[in-house]
Amino acid sequence: MGRDVIIACDFPNAETTLAFLDRFTGRKPFVKIGMELFYGAGPDIVRTVKARGHQVFLDLKLHDIPNTVKKSMTVLRDLGADIVNLHAAGTVRMMEAALEGLTRPDGSRPLLIAVTQLTSTDQTALENELLIKKNMADVVMHYALNARMAGLDGVVCSPLEAAAVHEVCGADFLTVTPGVRFAEGDKGDQKRVMTPAEAAKAGSDYIVVGRPITAAADPVAAYERCIREFVG
Ligand code: C5P
Repeated sequence: MGRDVIIACDFPNAETTLAFLDRFTGRKPFVKIGMELFYGAGPDIVRTVKARGHQVFLDLKLHDIPNTVKKSMTVLRDLGADIVNLHAAGTVRMMEAALEGLTRPDGSRPLLIAVTQLTSTDQTALENELLIKKNMADVVMHYALNARMAGLDGVVCSPLEAAAVHEVCGADFLTVTPGVRFAEGDKGDQKRVMTPAEAAKAGSDYIVVGRPITAAADPVAAYERCIREFVG
């Protein structure tokens, strides 16, 4: 695996998703399946997209007791996901259990990455609701280090945090970064954004791009532009 563009297929059902992917003749983009599509279409959507030759990032953000996460990770592994994720807030023990559940008898496994703090959580909520009286940037780096200590492969973070995560956790620790927009594009509800080219300079390993591709008049051209700007 190397630097790549992952399309966030935030669609409500299998029909819309497969019709969208049909437009990419001759290309097999890396696909992110999130909660909406997974819950709407069921686990078969992962098998179907995999059978069509795509790699799949299954973005279900698990967070439960270690035993439950371990067993659930085995199920996600057997669906054929290439990357899966969880909340680092579930503790190092939970992350270690997740890795155990993901690992096949031959030692191979999908990549496992952690959500540190959701970008929808701000400093006020962190302190007043979660009672974490620390600076958000320090919390994000501490959770990333916990993920690294547990043996995970990387984190989901803003491209603005990618360089710092690599500095703290190592160059080989993956940064998978949403919040990407074209220079002239509509930001939508994303507040802190970078272009694909800026994300590449910042050291992102994978960019996750949704609406700039899925809502484009020509999604294939928008995807090709992302690849050109990000991968070169
Ligand atoms: O449409 P857009 O490019 O904003 O989509 C970004 C994708 O990345 C969405 O699927 C969103 O849920 C996801 N994501 C995010 N910010 C995070 C974590 C995930 O935008 N912190």
